Amino acid sequence: MGGLLSGLRKVQDADVAGKTVLVRVDYNVPLKDGEVADDTRIAASLPTLHYLIDHGAEKLVLLSHLGRPEGKIVPELRLDPVAKRLEELLDRPVHKLDDCIGDAVTEAITAGTSGDVFLLENLRFHQEETTNAAGFARQLAALGDLYVNDAFATLHRAHASTVGIPDYLPAYAGMLIQREIEALSRVTDNPARPYIALVGGKKARSKLGALRDLIAQVNEILLGGGVAFTFIRAVGGEVGNSIVDESLLDDIKELISVARENNVTIVLPADAVIARELRDDAATEIAPAANIPAGWIGLDIGPTAVETFRDRISAAQTVVWTGPMGAFESTPFAAGTRAIGEACAASAAYTVVGGGETGEAVKELGVADGISYISTGGGACLAILRKKTLPALEALRG
Ligand code: 3PG
Repeated sequence: MGGLLSGLRKVQDADVAGKTVLVRVDYNVPLKDGEVADDTRIAASLPTLHYLIDHGAEKLVLLSHLGRPEGKIVPELRLDPVAKRLEELLDRPVHKLDDCIGDAVTEAITAGTSGDVFLLENLRFHQEETTNAAGFARQLAALGDLYVNDAFATLHRAHASTVGIPDYLPAYAGMLIQREIEALSRVTDNPARPYIALVGGKKARSKLGALRDLIAQVNEILLGGGVAFTFIRAVGGEVGNSIVDESLLDDIKELISVARENNVTIVLPADAVIARELRDDAATEIAPAANIPAGWIGLDIGPTAVETFRDRISAAQTVVWTGPMGAFESTPFAAGTRAIGEACAASAAYTVVGGGETGEAVKELGVADGISYISTGGGACLAILRKKTLPALEALRG
């Protein structure tokens, strides 16, 4: 990848002493009952925040989105619970403001004293954030003297707070971005082989583009989750009531033939854990994944598939994993995801787990220890593994 870090302006290159620093963070975290349910992304931002404080930054102004409010104020997506958790982790007061632009925001920051940390309100309450409106980016930029982007998980988005602000302020990459890129470069630059991609998750549609790009790089693709059932259907299997996107079957057939031309093996699960309903107390059976009876749903990979996948993983040198193998959040359908997590943890391969749902799954199932690297990004991590250009990263070069 010619070094994704090369030419990047790093926060360590900036003179931050006495400056008000705008820091774009990704605090798009899961909330439950008004509290932060997983603070991984908040904790991951701390090294940059401490660095700035330790190097004499006058004030920190943190910017983030949360969810997809689409330009409207959605009370449940306010950043107050995030501010509360950040305050605990940072061990200093965090002044949460009620908007991200406007006179009240400017006045609060101006009135702040040395060492103050401000967290602005959810950027996506303004439509101009996602449309990357120049006026909005300029208003955000006017709140500080320089800009540090540490929102790794948002690097694939060309939004006002990621690509707009660098038009108006000196812009630098934070420590999390640097750490993530270093870890992922080990996969993108000359990976140890065999290199396997494990791809699961509910929706085949959201993974097709990634699969197409990964064919050019990996040796094998192991499929689980709803993605696998759509592939099994495309090759003529009977999958009962399993999740299938019928509109993709032709694309999948083509993808399978491209994989064949590239000598990339696509491994489908031989069997599945099936049930009539996705419920915590559902009665389950094991069935061939390509012969699921009508009225039954494939909800996890079965024991034979686990064996095969485990063997492949233990023979691999590099493994990337995105998307759970089944409906892991429900106990009867968690075994496949857990077993694959354990196989990754036990393997001598360099194992990378994409953030979002898969990262949550490995943590929830207690198999995170032993995974070489768990990214804080879902889409951004996958974009890097696919060797896509990340607009917000490009904005930090030069
Ligand atoms: C993520 O969780 O992947 C990032 O925060 C980006 O969120 P988005 O997909 O809503 O842009």
